[in-house]
Formats: sequence, structure tokens, C-alpha cells
Amino acid sequence: MSDSKKDLQDAVPDVAKHVLRDGHEIPQLGLGTYPMDDAEAEALVPEALWRGYRLVDTAVNYGNERGVGRGIRSSGIPRSELFLTSKIPGRDHGRASVRRSLEGTLTRLGTDHLDLYMIHWPNPGVDQYVQTWREMMTARDEGLVRSIGVSNFLPEHLLRLEAETGEMPVVNQVELHPQYQQEALRRFHQEHRILTEAWSPLGRKTDLLQSEWLAEIARKQGRTPAQVVLRWHVQSGIVPIPKSSNPQRMAENIDVFEWELTDEQMERLRMMHTGISGSGFDPAVHEEM
Ligand code: A2P
Repeated sequence: MSDSKKDLQDAVPDVAKHVLRDGHEIPQLGLGTYPMDDAEAEALVPEALWRGYRLVDTAVNYGNERGVGRGIRSSGIPRSELFLTSKIPGRDHGRASVRRSLEGTLTRLGTDHLDLYMIHWPNPGVDQYVQTWREMMTARDEGLVRSIGVSNFLPEHLLRLEAETGEMPVVNQVELHPQYQQEALRRFHQEHRILTEAWSPLGRKTDLLQSEWLAEIARKQGRTPAQVVLRWHVQSGIVPIPKSSNPQRMAENIDVFEWELTDEQMERLRMMHTGISGSGFDPAVHEEM
């Protein structure tokens, strides 16, 4: 890399923030770290932070929390400027194991708190997500995590959390991109003031980035197809967490705050929905331990 760390930091874009229902602020775009391993995360997280990323998303099941933690420390960016998120796996659901799992996450990351802690999947077959949520509420009240959220939850799961604990998450991180727009779920989120975060925001395992419509919008904007997709997320109020292991693409992906898509372009993108998920995972039946 030819750019010095200082040059990079002088030129970083200003990522706007959303205010969550619980009053905490979250950057409008972050770095996804799946499927980086520890060594990759350790090398790449600083590259992202020097390019302006402040939200870093990991999970116990990514197996890279230690590398993410090392990368954060070696970047020289103060922990207080970062928004660090991780997720509890299915095998750690339940009253007895949440605290142990969270402590393992904090130790591996080398931090005393998370900014957002999520249930990775509802795992309805295990049927322990409500009890897990209660334990997360306690961890939040004790200051180990600032905000609590979920990932891959359907309205039926969210409604059950509210009915049994009186509290809904402030974030639901789901698979989402222009070919898989999750409009009904997003309306539900809006009604309940749940922020939508998007995993696979660039449509990994789909042909999204090869779309001719996208290429045309990108040409008109003087941007890349990936930037158009990420701008669509941001302009739709969705927080995308694109993963890239390539520093140049990391910089490209965060450069989506100083320009806008037109209403007509947004409408074009809305019409790209096919309803076909890249992963094929259905949270109603998917079990991931
Ligand atoms: P790479 O890590 O080599 O950049 P998602 O976040 O939707 O899961 O997508 C991640 C995938 O998209 C990775 O394979 C990543 O590859 C690739 N990717 C990330 N940024 C871009 C970009 N700006 N243009 C094209 N592909 C990208």
C-alpha cells in the first residue's frame, strides 16, 4: 500500500449516524468480517479503521473475534470512537450460558463492553431465544453491553420477545440487498422503531453486481455498482456492513455519503427485487449452533 496511514486518516469520509431507540448512536455503515479468519481480521481491521470505518461487526461463529480485537488495538484508533458488535451462537442460548459466552467474547476482543450484542439466529428448534434475551437485558443493565439486538429474526420472533419480556431489540440484522429487499419486515421494523442492518448487502452468491440496470446507474453517477448498492441501503435508512478483504474496495464501499441517487434511480433499484435470497437460509427453520 502506497498511502501512508496519516494520508488515509486525513482523507476519511465522515460517516453519518443513526440514533437507536435506546438513545445510543450507530454509524450508518460498517465493516462486515465474515468470512475473515483471525489472521485476516488482524491485518484488515486496521486498514478499514484508517479508511474511516467505525462500526466493526463480528460473531462468535465467525471465529475471528481475537483477530478483530488485535486489529483494533494495533490501529491506534481509540476504543471510545468505535462501535463494536458481536453475536451469541445457538449453542450458547439459555440462562446458564449467556454470561459465559459474553465474557468469552469480551476477552477475545480485549474490551470491557460491546456497543451492540445480538442473538445470531432465533434457532426456533432450540426455543431458548426468549431466555437468552432476558440474560442479554441483564448484561445491558449491568453495562457489559450498551445496546441489545438480534439477527435473522422474523416478526413472529420479535413479537414473542415483546410479549414475554416487554422489550423489543433496537436492531435486527438480516440478509438484505436490492434483489432481496425484505419490504414487509422493514415496515414492521419501522412500526416498532427497530433499525434494519443488512448482512450480505452486496448480494454475495447472487448476480446482483453484474446487473445491467445497476451498471447503467453507476455509469450515470460516475460510481461503481457496489457503491450504488451501498448508497441505496444508506438512502433507505438501512445500515449495510459490506465485507471486503481488499483495502481499495473498503475505501470504495465507505465513499457513499457525499452524493445521492435520484428518486428515479431509487425506484429502478426498488424494481430489482426478485425475492431470491443468496444464502437460502430461512430463519423459521434454519438452525445454526
Ligand atoms: P473482497 O473481500 O475480495 O472484496 P457481502 O458483504 O455482501 O457479503 O459481500 C462480500 C463480497 O463482495 C466479498 O466476496 C467481497 O470480496 C466482495 N466485494 C466487497 N466489496 C466489493 C466491491 N466494492 N466491488 C465488488 N465486490 C466487492
